[in-house]
Amino acid sequence: MRAVTITRRGGPEVVQVREVAEPSPGPGQVRIAVRAAGLNFADLMARMGLYPDAPKLPAVVGYEVSGVVDEVGPGVSSPAVGDRVLALVRFGGQAEKVVLPATNALPMPDGMTFEQGAALPVAYLTAYHSLFRVGHLSAGRSVLVHMAAGGVGTAALQLCATVPGVTVFGTASAAKHAVLREEGCHHPIDYRTIDYEAEVQRLTGGRGVDLVLDALGGQDWKKGYRLLRPGGMLVTYGFANIAAGPRRSVVRAARQLLSVPRFSPIALMDDNRGVAGVNMGHLWGEPEMVLGEFRALLGLFQEGRIRPRIDSVFRFEEAARAHERLQGRASVGKVLLVP
Ligand SMILES: NC(=O)c1ccc[n+]([C@@H]2O[C@H](COP(=O)([O-])OP(=O)(O)OC[C@H]3O[C@@H](n4cnc5c(N)ncnc54)[C@H](OP(=O)(O)O)[C@@H]3O)[C@@H](O)[C@H]2O)c1
Repeated sequence: MRAVTITRRGGPEVVQVREVAEPSPGPGQVRIAVRAAGLNFADLMARMGLYPDAPKLPAVVGYEVSGVVDEVGPGVSSPAVGDRVLALVRFGGQAEKVVLPATNALPMPDGMTFEQGAALPVAYLTAYHSLFRVGHLSAGRSVLVHMAAGGVGTAALQLCATVPGVTVFGTASAAKHAVLREEGCHHPIDYRTIDYEAEVQRLTGGRGVDLVLDALGGQDWKKGYRLLRPGGMLVTYGFANIAAGPRRSVVRAARQLLSVPRFSPIALMDDNRGVAGVNMGHLWGEPEMVLGEFRALLGLFQEGRIRPRIDSVFRFEEAARAHERLQGRASVGKVLLVP
């Protein structure tokens, strides 16, 4: 079968389609004929050698797929061959076929396209877990979402809109602000031309916000912490600042790591602020938690309250261009790969 392979560490050109052996489902597993696979920032970082969780290269990555079950292993009664499913997978998703535990393959709601099915898992689970499980978002609160036009960002904006009276601040390049407003962001901020920290302080009359979702990292975590109101929470879930160019730079990485703040429990206490982290890739040992959140999201989709925003769909052969698009800050919503 064909699989999008990161052949070695480097720029987008190291991403190539290769022939690899087709996997077979073992006991309790199903095989999915992939119709669409999500591309995530983690895939770019894996390609650059900046993602500690990545498999050893050469490797086929990909954390999320939609498709049709084409074979089931011994002991599997559901899903069945022919069912349309979507799933989180621990790598291997960017291939024509992928094998996973049957319990991880959830039925796709009627009316959901394969593209929407592949765009939903990582972005919405990350946003949902950060906002609700960790951030305890409730009516009337305020949230600052960074990378607000991206995959996780647009998911977070839509999820904030499901809670009454939440005020949303979002950072993104100016060209994406119309989309931010469309997705429910009240205050789009162009972080490239203005100091977003000063702008949020100005817009809130110096009070700050209840929740900051920050996958930028480094210096931005310091700013996010300073922006918290009493009782507020900074949720860290990525370090995009470390991957600012197409290739790994040891100097940039070292500079970014040095700018990571240290939080003391005594200061947290005295400031009445919290800091929490989210890494969905480290929640494989908590299937009930993740599947519960997944089902809640599918319910919101069926109610028409969330709608994955798809930026672009690339054929496997064009995967290098897909990497360029995501990394070049051109995308709005999710970038997908199709066999
Ligand atoms: N912890 C977890 O479990 C988890 C899960 C999923 C994603 N994440 C993290 O969440 C973040 C968003 O992921 P995503 O896949 O949804 O990507 P994305 O937000 O769709 O990424 C692209 C957008 O991010 C903005 N951006 C800011 N700094 C950037 C940089 N240094 N390089 C490239 N783009 C940058 C750009 O928009 P603007 O120019 O408009 O700002 C760009 O269009 C990433 O940091 C990722 O690692 C974490």
